[in-house]
Formats: sequence, structure tokens, C-alpha cells
Amino acid sequence: MSDSPIDSLRLQFHSDLASAENEAELRAVRDRYLARKGGMVSGLLKALGSAPPAERPRLGQLANSLKQEIETQLDARTVAASSTRTPKGTVDVTLPGRLPVVGHRHPLAVLRERIEEIFTRMGFLVIEGPELEDDYHNFEALNMPADHPARDMQDTLYLSAPMRSSAGNPATLLRTHTSGMQIRYMETHQPPVRLIAPGRVYRRDNLDLTHTPMFTQVEGLVVGENVTLADLKGTLDLFVRELFGQDRTVRFRPSFFPYTEPSAEVDISCAACGGTGLVSKPGQSGELGCSMCKGTGWVEILGSGMVHPAVFEAVGYDSEKYTGFAFGMGIERIALLKWGVEDIRLFYENDLRFLEQFPL
Ligand code: DAH
Repeated sequence: MSDSPIDSLRLQFHSDLASAENEAELRAVRDRYLARKGGMVSGLLKALGSAPPAERPRLGQLANSLKQEIETQLDARTVAASSTRTPKGTVDVTLPGRLPVVGHRHPLAVLRERIEEIFTRMGFLVIEGPELEDDYHNFEALNMPADHPARDMQDTLYLSAPMRSSAGNPATLLRTHTSGMQIRYMETHQPPVRLIAPGRVYRRDNLDLTHTPMFTQVEGLVVGENVTLADLKGTLDLFVRELFGQDRTVRFRPSFFPYTEPSAEVDISCAACGGTGLVSKPGQSGELGCSMCKGTGWVEILGSGMVHPAVFEAVGYDSEKYTGFAFGMGIERIALLKWGVEDIRLFYENDLRFLEQFPL
């Protein structure tokens, strides 16, 4: 037997070692060469038995040193490979962090806060009250006696059974407006009064583009000596321009509410057509009636008026001494107008693709 099987095994080993890429492959190489049964080195040593006796010691030495070499090299590579392995349970602090998903404030909440902010700057107090209400606060004390059409079953959601309330009368209905908060506050406080009362209200309406059975209002009330219609106009004019922009024009249109006299609805110039009532559509000749204001150039945003003396009487205020004004607006309606949204239901579907389009 010559040296050549030993040399060729060495060459083969070095090429196998060079192409082993990880610990598993190194283990495979180790098995292939060093396994007691069927390993190539054991095979080689066995083959020595058939070499001429004079050659055996030298060949044996060569074979053993190859075995040593293979072991040393495999050990070295195995140690090197294991040192690059990430130990179990460790954290790679160099990985980029995971961004937490941050939600978006609801546009109606943002708008309510904006309205509160404008009135707070004018010295108004912000109060809240019950959504389950009694007939007296929702209707009667607001000069809407028992046969008043506003109580119609078609508008009001009544409770199937009255609920005890901590504040006096049992609640029989879901409040249809926030105006009852005027009564609740005046019953327990003396003038001067300057407040807004935001909150949810409920009506027996079916869902459509502009109606939801639950929506949000902001009530306002100012009472004192010498409070005049000019104060109402000045306050609401300032509020509307703060909220919608200084370029908007405001108009007061005579109206009717049982709890105010005189009453007025407040309109602002329509943003969609700039108050002209007409819009031109791209690709169409001539002008079309504006759909936002139905061609009138104006959109209604709130109801208001001078507090009716009957309301003062109900709360025990001296209507000879005090005067006041009140107003009420729907936040959803203002949101539709302010942002040109055409379907009120979008505000209640919680689709982030919609909600994220609004300023925070
Ligand atoms: N309560 C009325 C509504 O729900 C809004 C309103 C109009 C409130 C005139 C007022 C007011 O305080 O003076 O439509």
C-alpha cells in the first residue's frame, strides 16, 4: 500500500471541510470521516492490515496523524461556527423597533373640543347632564305643554318603564335635545349664567344621509341683567367665524322655538358654492344648483333666541329683572358642513380610512 490513499483522503477531507457551512454540515463531515463504524478513517486503518508488514508502522503513523489532523480541524471549525450562533433567548438589540399602531381621535370629539374651547375663551362654563330625562326638563319647563307636537311619539324615544333618578322626577325618555340643561342649571343656580352643555341626544329617526337616532348637540345659555339680542348676535357671529373662518358671512333668520322669543336660526354662507348657490362641474358647461345649500347660498347651523319669560318662571327667575339668550346646535351637522361630508353615518362606522382624514 502506498501513501496515496492517505493523501487523497486528506485532499477530499479538506474540500469537504471547506464546503461545510454550518454546525450541522460539520457534524455530517465528522460522521463521514470519523465514525467508528463506516467512517472513512476507520476504513483506512482497517485497510492497513493488508499492507506489507515492513510498511505498516510508517503507514500507521501517517494514517494516525491524518486522523489527528481531521479531528483538530473539525474541532476548530465547530467552535468557530458555534460562536456565531445566537444563544437561545437573547434579543437582538440592533433590530429596528416595532411601531405601535396609534389610533386617531374621532372628528366629532375634536370638533366638540374646538367648540368648547371657543366658548370657554368667551367665559362660558361647560356642563354636562343626564341623557335619561324626565318630561318636565325635556319639555314642560321649556314651555312645551302636554299637547305640544314636539312630544310626538314619532320624535321622542320613551323608556318602556320609568327609571328612578337621583335628581327628582323619574326619567321616562331619552332627551331629544340638550335644552333641558338650561332648566337643570337655572333650577340650582342664580344669575348671571353663561354656559354651554354638550352631549348626546336621541330621536326616533331612521338612519339616512343626514339622520341618526343618536347625535350630539351643544346647548348654550346666557342670563343676566341687560342681556340683549345684540349680545346674542355678537356672540354667535364671533363663534361662527372662529369655527368656520373669518371669510364666512352669518345671517340671522326669524324662526320659532317655544322656549325663545324672538327666535332666530343662524345660517352661514355656503362653502361649497361661496354663497352663490351655483357650482360649475368640470367637463360640464354652465352652472348647476349647489347641492350642499340646495341652491340657496346659505346653510343653517343653529337655532337660537331670547329666553322666553315662561322658562324663567319655571325656574323661579324674575323675568322683569333678567333677560337671556339661548342657542343649540348639532355637532354632526356642523361636521358635515365644515368638512363637506355627505353621509352622517360615516361618523359612526369607525372606519379608520375615513376617521384618519380629519385634523387631530
Ligand atoms: N333645541 C333645539 C333643537 O333641538 C335647538 C335650539 C333652538 C336650542 C333654539 C335653543 C334655542 O336653546 O334657543 O333643534
